[in-house]
Amino acid sequence: MDNRPIGVFDSGLGGLTAVRALDALLPYEDIVYFGDTARVPYGTRSREIILKYLRQDVAFLGSFGVKLLVVACGTASTAGLSALDGAYEFPLLGVVEPAVRAAAEASRNRKVGLIATPAAVASGAYEAALKARAPDIQVTAAACPLLVPLVENGRARRGDVVAETVCREYLRPLQDAGVDTLILGCTHYPLLSGVFRDIMGAHVLLIDAGEAVARAAAAHLRESAALSADTARGVRRYFVSDSPPGFAATAALLLGRPLDGPVEKADVESEKR
Ligand code: DGL
Repeated sequence: MDNRPIGVFDSGLGGLTAVRALDALLPYEDIVYFGDTARVPYGTRSREIILKYLRQDVAFLGSFGVKLLVVACGTASTAGLSALDGAYEFPLLGVVEPAVRAAAEASRNRKVGLIATPAAVASGAYEAALKARAPDIQVTAAACPLLVPLVENGRARRGDVVAETVCREYLRPLQDAGVDTLILGCTHYPLLSGVFRDIMGAHVLLIDAGEAVARAAAAHLRESAALSADTARGVRRYFVSDSPPGFAATAALLLGRPLDGPVEKADVESEKR
């Protein structure tokens, strides 16, 4: 048993989709969330900068004595989490392996689509993990630089003409490739699921990377006998580096419920990390 909190990180609010899944899977765990809302998006930045930010973000969450850190950010997960391996006394769990495992198990026609940020797609990390796990799978990837800003600005609903136009253009090559499984390789994207479903059709299975990493986190804690001994709902704390207007409303959409804890401001940049 281990009552220390789980840390969850994203460059913005997308990682709340992982918190939403953790709520259902591990309701008694305490969670500390950090969204780097002052520096989002990460997905159009270089690997070097993403890793520099990630080190600061991980150090911040590490200061809460976390037992596990969920990197609920496709972009940060693909920037080379292995570069940080062994640097902390808690494990870091990224979204790539859990999402790829779910896709490899689900795909019937062995044609898998990937949508993610430009940095995540350029890294080739999802494709490499898919190739290693299931060499028979053919991957079609599309970099989608406009989707994170759409979600962060609350423009992700079905019927939103901007969201639909942008998504239709990004998804066209994946439709042409005939994929039956689509990895949402960025944790912001589940909010656009309605739009994706309308475009791709109900027969295409959407893999939610946040949900996949939450399942992996639950399995990891169970296997290492590190679940909390509490039997009351865990405490949630939310930290952001900036509170943009409409923050609480967008956060509630991603969480699937109103925010249930204080939103505190964190300055991870000025602290020496
Ligand atoms: N949620 C992040 C991801 O999963 C968004 C990346 C960004 O900040 O561009 O990739």
